[in-house]
Amino acid sequence: MADGVGSFRSTHSALFDYVISVTRELAWQDCQEQVDRKRMSGDTQKELSATFDSNGVSEEKHDSPGSESETLSKRQRKRLAKAQQWEEQRELRKRKRKEKKQKKREERLTQGDEGAELTSRKRLCREAEPSSLRLVVDCSFDSLMAVKDVRKLHKQIQRCYAENRRASHPVQFYLTSLGGQLKQNMDDRDQGWVNWKDIHVKPEHFQEVMRKEELVYLTSDSPNMLKELDESKAYVIGGLVDHNHHKGITFERAQELGINHAQFPLGDFVKMNSRKVLAVNHVFEIVLAYLEKRDWREAFFTVLPQRKGAVPVEGEEPDTDEDTPPKRTDQEEQDVSSDGD
Ligand SMILES: C[S@@+](CC[C@H](N)C(=O)[O-])C[C@H]1O[C@@H](n2cnc3c(N)ncnc32)[C@H](O)[C@@H]1O
Repeated sequence: MADGVGSFRSTHSALFDYVISVTRELAWQDCQEQVDRKRMSGDTQKELSATFDSNGVSEEKHDSPGSESETLSKRQRKRLAKAQQWEEQRELRKRKRKEKKQKKREERLTQGDEGAELTSRKRLCREAEPSSLRLVVDCSFDSLMAVKDVRKLHKQIQRCYAENRRASHPVQFYLTSLGGQLKQNMDDRDQGWVNWKDIHVKPEHFQEVMRKEELVYLTSDSPNMLKELDESKAYVIGGLVDHNHHKGITFERAQELGINHAQFPLGDFVKMNSRKVLAVNHVFEIVLAYLEKRDWREAFFTVLPQRKGAVPVEGEEPDTDEDTPPKRTDQEEQDVSSDGD
């Protein structure tokens, strides 16, 4: 019997605790809504405390129901104080924003065109001088890649697109043989790609789009060293992330098709602590950098990632050009480039 009374008490006290905690939560939510609605004028805190009290629930009330000295909990008071402070500083923030805007406007006026060019990438983009050079990413190796590598290739292509859009001499960018897993991945993960501008997307093979004699396959296995870029040509990059599982495949492909091929003259300028097989976006970006600087060494050092350990060959010192964006960090590289390591 005594056990029965005990268990009745404990069950009801648990129920009471539960009802109190739910009521307290509801009362607090109600208060918060009021804070939002009224945007906390100076008097709001008092008003709110009163409202909260009138809901009849507080820490004290739980301990001693009916107590007159109902107060907000420490946490609740802190929240209120914060909200109040935020409200009080509204005008100050507004003033600061205005001042910042005004300062920027004045800076733009005093810097004139030159300054604006340096501070605005968009302006640079508008002043770009497009090159007639065609740069093709050959996506015909789709079936040789695992899904995770297709995703990496997709990211590399996104990088190529973005770099081309802000290049000083953007190339005529082609994606050929686009289909299969890569297209599916692009459709699924980045629907916006269909609105890309200044890009030629073709389901056909590049041979159906360009004349044979205009084509040069870029491949690290070619015995031919590229001396300079000919802007009347179409340079082809193998759209492949293969961790060297398909060594020499693009060189073989170029030979089968009977088209010209060449590799970058990396060895003349750079000593690298890894293979000279570069990721698609690096090859793409080197072409863009060469078109801007007309210098292989500068192009390589602007683009090659630090983890490639690129250092100049003896006697060569890369220029430190302040306008040149810094080489990307390893982490940034790993996000898009996973080949050539
Ligand atoms: C990750 S690589 C693909 C490697 C692949 N095993 C192959 O045989 O081409 C991506 C593409 O970048 C280009 N590439 C990479 N390194 C190069 C280099 N040193 N010179 C010229 N093109 C290069 C090639 O077009 C290559 O297909």
